[in-house]
Amino acid sequence: MTVQRLDIEQALPRMQALAARLWSPESRHHPGQLAWSAAYGEPEALGLGPAFLVDDAWAWLESADWLEVCGTDPDAVRAVVRAALAESADEVTASTLETETVAIDALLDHGFTEVGSPWFTHHLLDLADLPDVAVPAGYDVRAVRAGEHEQRSKVHRDAWSPTSKVTARAYERLMATPPYRPATDHVVVAPDGEWVASCCVWLDETTGVALVEPVGCVDAHARRGLATAASVSALTAARDLGATTGLVCPRGDDDYPAPARLYRRIGFVPGACTRTYRRG
Ligand SMILES: CC(C)(COP(=O)(O)OP(=O)(O)OC[C@H]1O[C@@H](n2cnc3c(N)ncnc32)[C@H](O)[C@@H]1OP(=O)(O)O)[C@@H](O)C(=O)NCCC(=O)NCCS
Repeated sequence: MTVQRLDIEQALPRMQALAARLWSPESRHHPGQLAWSAAYGEPEALGLGPAFLVDDAWAWLESADWLEVCGTDPDAVRAVVRAALAESADEVTASTLETETVAIDALLDHGFTEVGSPWFTHHLLDLADLPDVAVPAGYDVRAVRAGEHEQRSKVHRDAWSPTSKVTARAYERLMATPPYRPATDHVVVAPDGEWVASCCVWLDETTGVALVEPVGCVDAHARRGLATAASVSALTAARDLGATTGLVCPRGDDDYPAPARLYRRIGFVPGACTRTYRRG
């Protein structure tokens, strides 16, 4: 089996197509998550490694010490994992969904062992059950417009961290990375015009699955339902564009429970959890 080695920029569309073709509630990868992972920061800041592809599987060194794997054909998955490990750091970590037995078996066969680590729980929502958008008085929620990458990246950093890699230049590039659409990237605007909460939703047209990634609200406006409003509004826009299922992947362990509570309050239902494996 010939494994093709490509830089992530060239590989991304093929990786997204395979993730969409193989997507099910039991699989880790969504085209929008891959776009976010490949473009949330400026390329020099992310240190992204190459991807290794065959028709039915890929392995991506998201960094020299972090491996992502996609595929359900055992021989194909083994081939791409083997190729990636030939270029990885000595110690490398991989995360899968607990349901991805083919990927897990390939990692175990290549010397990985499961390690304790914060885990994430995939949550799903039938978008027919999405509640109405409720915005507190004085606030407004709307879609981002082309050219607003500077403000959009700022509201993300203000909620997450001033040292976040999500710079204006990075967000401009992200906005040019399919399947990004401004129509499903929503912000909450405070009465004074400041952007205070945000939610980006990624609609995969192949599956109709709309991934929520990421969500944020600045501390000064917390617990007023603004992250909820941004999320419900962006998901509603995705549903209007044909999405049928919402997906979000918050932390599942007890150390950071707030986001999972937020999504469950919207109606998301927990599904499979991630597992972490390490080699070296
Ligand atoms: C998590 C975060 C998005 C919440 O934003 P928010 O606008 O305050 O959230 P909401 O007001 O819509 O809260 C909805 C529900 O989420 C839960 N929640 C939100 N913040 C919480 C907290 N700090 N502790 C516990 N539960 C919390 C509650 O159930 C809340 O409902 P309630 O206020 O009626 O109890 C915000 O704190 C944030 O940006 N954090 C940093 C980035 C992050 O972790 N993003 C989410 C992961 S993608």
